[in-house]
Parts: sequence; C-alpha cells; structure tokens
Amino acid sequence: MLIAKRLATLTTGLVLGLLSEHASAQNGWPAPVAMKGTIPNNPIAQTLDPALIRRQSDNKLFLYTTGKNGSVWTANSLYGPWTHEGTAKFREYGGAPSIHRIGDTYYVYINNHEFDYSTVGVTDPAIHTWAHNSSLLVASSKTLEIGDWKWHGRLEIDWAKRYNILDAALLTIEEGGKRRNLLSFGSYQQGIFQLPLADPPIKIADGANKNINHLANNKTSAFPNGPTEAAYIFKWQDWYYLFTSSGRCCKQPDGHWVDRGDVYKVMVCRSKRPGGGFVDDKGVDCANNSGGKEILGTHNNIWAPGGQGVLVDDEAGGPIIYYHYVPYDVQSKTPANEFRFGWNKLDFSSGWPVVAK
Ligand SMILES: *[C@@H]1O[C@H](CO)[C@@H](O)[C@H](O)[C@H]1NC(C)=O
Ligand SMILES: *[C@@H]1O[C@H](CO)[C@@H](O)[C@H](O)[C@H]1NC(C)=O
Ligand SMILES: *[C@@H]1O[C@H](CO)[C@@H](O)[C@H](O)[C@H]1NC(C)=O
Ligand SMILES: *[C@@H]1O[C@H](CO)[C@@H](O)[C@H](O)[C@H]1NC(C)=O
Repeated sequence: MLIAKRLATLTTGLVLGLLSEHASAQNGWPAPVAMKGTIPNNPIAQTLDPALIRRQSDNKLFLYTTGKNGSVWTANSLYGPWTHEGTAKFREYGGAPSIHRIGDTYYVYINNHEFDYSTVGVTDPAIHTWAHNSSLLVASSKTLEIGDWKWHGRLEIDWAKRYNILDAALLTIEEGGKRRNLLSFGSYQQGIFQLPLADPPIKIADGANKNINHLANNKTSAFPNGPTEAAYIFKWQDWYYLFTSSGRCCKQPDGHWVDRGDVYKVMVCRSKRPGGGFVDDKGVDCANNSGGKEILGTHNNIWAPGGQGVLVDDEAGGPIIYYHYVPYDVQSKTPANEFRFGWNKLDFSSGWPVVAK
C-alpha cells in the first residue's frame, strides 16, 4: 500500500473532497465476522495491510500489519480473542508485510519505501520520489515470533520508472517434484507485475529481470497512473485467482477521502496459468483492458476494504479472505480515523470467489 500522505505529487488537483452518497448498491456484502479481544473495538487495533498466517507447530495465528508501527496480534482462534503482541521492526522501512510458509520456514516480504536506486546505477531523477523509490525486503523465520526474523536484504528487481516496487505476495507451485516461486508486486501506477524468485525465495531467480509479467492494470481510473496494488494470487481447484486492491487506500494529502467509488475495493481476475491471461467474469482482459470483478467494496458501515489476502483454514472450513477496512459512520457519513481487521469465508462454488457470511 502506498501511503496517501506520501502521494502529494501524484494527487495534486485530483482530490474530490466530497463523499457522494449516490453510489454503489450494497451488493449484499456481509459484515466482517464477529471477533473477540483487542480486535475489533480497540483504538490500538490499527490493522492496515494485514498478513495472516497460522503457525504449523501449535496452530497459533499471527497477524502482522503496517498499522501503529507494525503491530502484531496473535490468537488461537480466528474468532479471537486476539492479543496485541507488540510491534515488528518493519515499520521503519515501510511495511505491508506478506507472509508465506514453505516447509518449516516462514518468509516475510515488506516494503522499504526509501531505497536509493542511484546506488545500483539508476540515474532517472524519479527514483527520489515516493511513487518510485520503494523496494522489497525479505526475511525468514522458523517461529513467526516478532524478534525472530533473519533478514536477507533487498530483492534486486530491476528499477523501471513504469512501476513502484511494493506490496509483494508469494505464490508457490509444486509441479512434478519441482517448486516454482512467483512473486507478485506493485505498483500503484501501472498495476500488478510478477517475477520468479529463487528457491528458497530469498532472492530473485537467475534471469528474473528479463521475465517480468504484467498481470493487471486499470487504465479507466479516474486518476492518472491508475491505482492497483496489494495483489494476492491464490490457486483453487483449476484456477489461479488474482486478488487486487483498486483505488485509494487512504485519505488524500489534504485529509479528505475521495469519492466512495474510487476508494479501495477488492477486485478479482482469474486464469488457468499463474503468469498471465487473467480475465474477469465478463472475459475482459485484466492486464490490457482494465478488467476486474469487484467482490468486496464500500458497503453499510464498511469503508474502503482492501489490503487483502487469502488463507485456507480448517477452523473456517475452507478459504477465507482477510482485509483491512475503515469503520464508516452511516449517520454522519464519515469514515473513522482508523483501520480495522476483518475476515469472511469465500465461496468458490460458482467458479468466482463470493464473500460469504
Ligand atoms: C511509532 O514509532 C515512532 C518512532 O519511533 C514513535 O514516535 C511513535 O510514538 C510510535 N507510535 C506508536 C503508536 O507506537
Ligand atoms: C524517496 O522519496 C521521498 C519523497 O519524494 C524523498 O523525500 C526521499 O528522499 C526519497 N528517498 C530516496 C532514498 O530516494
Ligand atoms: C478502475 O478505476 C475506476 C475509477 O476509480 C473504478 O471505477 C473501476 O472500478 C476500476 N476498475 C478496476 C478493474 O480496478
Ligand atoms: C496483453 O498484451 C500483451 C502485449 O500485447 C500480450 O502479450 C498479452 O498476452 C495480453 N494479455 C492477455 C491476457 O491477453
């Protein structure tokens, strides 16, 4: 997620300021599942950019976030009670953690918003702006505990001014005894990209910079450089599903939110292969033709849901989508000044994910 206050240069003159109420029907989207503990209903529960994972050894859930300096929560049940464990040391870099397990090891990817690309020979002056100076860092752990991450440094993804290198998510595919690690990332400006990582996935694969796929983009956006970010690819039965967050995550630099149709919402595209060919439910190409099926948007007292991930969990009896959202006061028509964590089951029976009660 690219934090709004850092986007002054991109957004000048584009702020709408007023929240129009005409917009979207409620679409029958359910409220997030009720939970106990410090999530929800607690002011420290700033769960921006959640990454949710269950530890294999004892089934304990870990929720890493960007919010409040990288707050981390744990629970034994998805329904809570959730306990605030403290803060990860990621925030100093930028956040948006994404955590994945391969065998007995967990990997986290986080945004580092201020890498100096001149140190690797890039001369374009754009490298010194927020929209272009992000990079991704990777760490690994056997325990998921806050203090137990080993850092492996920066992923050496080629800087190119057409995208911002942030918001990673890993897809691991096992095929005939071989493992492929594909990292999606990006980008705010030109959508979602993907490249192969090595195995273990602590650096890019040999030749990966010549093999970057473009998976999704929104050229119809009300904003130049259409904002699409926070990708998550999830395989279910015969399909690869690409979940993205489209629109503005956060308030604009002047403190206003943009119109409800242009704030974060969760889009899905699908393909039979992981590296491209993603289309929406109408067959519209998501990379070249701005396709995308909206599966969760602003509704009732939920504002700007996004930053999503997918987890298959026995307790929930299958796949769930988890996300952050902003509580919205329907009476005063005001989004709150905080981010909360929510999750719901996903029903894939139609071939497309439906957010279920
Ligand atoms: C976050 O970290 C900054 C810098 O270390 C500190 O000033 C601030 O109080 C911290 N905020 C919270 C909510 O912990
Ligand atoms: C990143 O961008 C910000 C905002 O433009 C700038 O202040 C900062 O110096 C940049 N950092 C680097 C290392 O380029
Ligand atoms: C593209 O952006 C427009 C304007 O914000 C929005 O209405 C539309 O839903 C977006 N489409 C996708 C696929 O993200
Ligand atoms: C989008 O366009 C590129 C370049 O023309 C092409 O290689 C790719 O196959 C297209 N994507 C889809 C999903 O058709």
